[in-house]
Amino acid sequence: MCADRLRLFVAADVPDEIREIIQRAVEPLKARVPGGRWVRPENLHLTLKFIGEYGEEGLERLSDAIEAAASRSAPFKVCLGSCGAFPAPGKARVLWVGMTRGGEEAARLAGKLDARLERVGVKREGRGFRGHLTVARLKSPHDCMVFLEDLAANMEGASRFPFEIDRLTLYRSILGPSGPAYTALREFALGGEARGEG
Ligand code: 2AM
Repeated sequence: MCADRLRLFVAADVPDEIREIIQRAVEPLKARVPGGRWVRPENLHLTLKFIGEYGEEGLERLSDAIEAAASRSAPFKVCLGSCGAFPAPGKARVLWVGMTRGGEEAARLAGKLDARLERVGVKREGRGFRGHLTVARLKSPHDCMVFLEDLAANMEGASRFPFEIDRLTLYRSILGPSGPAYTALREFALGGEARGEG
């Protein structure tokens, strides 16, 4: 039986104002990007560590590891703005909004999570960390250069909304036909104590 394996990731949430700015920025692109599946505003987040499938019985030690990384990291300011695509703008599968401020701090935090979570059996991230908020996933690769320029222009307002990341959330992801559903399991304050259940 595999009912007790949860698909998990650690992310930072963004304020509602930012969700609205992104929502307005992507709206004009929705009809133009072929095969684009757009992330619902409530699902926008900055992933710091993708954990993948993990046994529910290990949640306590997993939480302890996240807490150890979070409590040793100070809150930091973030500004969103630059836009890009994975694996490349000319053959995009993922469109994202990047960070014009806070990228180094986010990378350090991701590195700490990576190291702490490895001790409890989570595979280390092979790729270098690149802080981003995924806004769309494409069914097949497409040249998105022009769309990214438009998205960057539409995102200009975000530079007026620097915000602070002061907590992390452990999310469960349940994949479904209409996209993933994310449930917050626990919260961890940066530079402070773990909060949430347990
Ligand atoms: P993203 O940050 O580029 O959107 C939940 O799936 C979250 O974990 C998503 O935000 C997703 O990517 C991120 N993630 C990172 N690596 C992943 C992987 N190998 N498989 C699925 N999701 C991954």
